[in-house]
Amino acid sequence: PPLTGVIRSVVLILTLLGTWFLMQTYFDHRWKVINPRSWLAKQPPRHKCGNQRSCPQNYFAFKITSGAANVVGPSICFEDKIIMSSVKNNIGRGLNIMLVNGTNGKLLKTGIFDMYSGDINKLDAFLQEIKVGTIVLVASYDDPATKMNAKVQAHFERLGSSHVRKLGFRDNWVFLGAKGMKNKSPFEEHIKNDRKTNKYDGWPEMLEMEGCTPRKMD
Ligand SMILES: *[C@@H]1O[C@H](CO)[C@@H](O)[C@H](O)[C@H]1NC(C)=O
Repeated sequence: PPLTGVIRSVVLILTLLGTWFLMQTYFDHRWKVINPRSWLAKQPPRHKCGNQRSCPQNYFAFKITSGAANVVGPSICFEDKIIMSSVKNNIGRGLNIMLVNGTNGKLLKTGIFDMYSGDINKLDAFLQEIKVGTIVLVASYDDPATKMNAKVQAHFERLGSSHVRKLGFRDNWVFLGAKGMKNKSPFEEHIKNDRKTNKYDGWPEMLEMEGCTPRKMD
């Protein structure tokens, strides 16, 4: 009878719908499991240089880490790029300095100045040549002070440093300043080498400073 054909068609349609529904649910679930986006969405957002906060537009992200004793080298990150580090093999004992164009954030040059047995006149000349509008990032390693002199201190003060005159043997120092700044830089940390408070035998603990520096600091 014709009714059997109708029932058969209905059963067939229901079976197809059921299969489609199950497949769809299964793949939808699978998709969520393998889709890396849904994983990433649950992670806290990563900021440039691994910093705690993101920087507003027209600011550069940076992180400066001093050396730890005379064992672990310092590092300088700028706009999410590690510019100076042990891995890059471009750091050394003394002061590690990086110069950046404050307008476009481009790297100008880096320098390593041995402050224990190096020629201080090289650092004097390096600082003398810095042009207005340049951002200067400094990380100490082991000893930032033995060969320091008044001329070099004056250069750093003109870049916005307030601690450079207090630096002593095996202190740690991290600093970000700029040529042409009218005020003292808010980005400077200094820790004294002091037997009573040192983390390591002959050295204080390392310093890490991160933040956002405006283009054209003044
Ligand atoms: C920085 O770069 C700009 C071009 O983007 C240039 O005009 C300026 O002279 C540069 N400044 C320094 C200090 O290098």
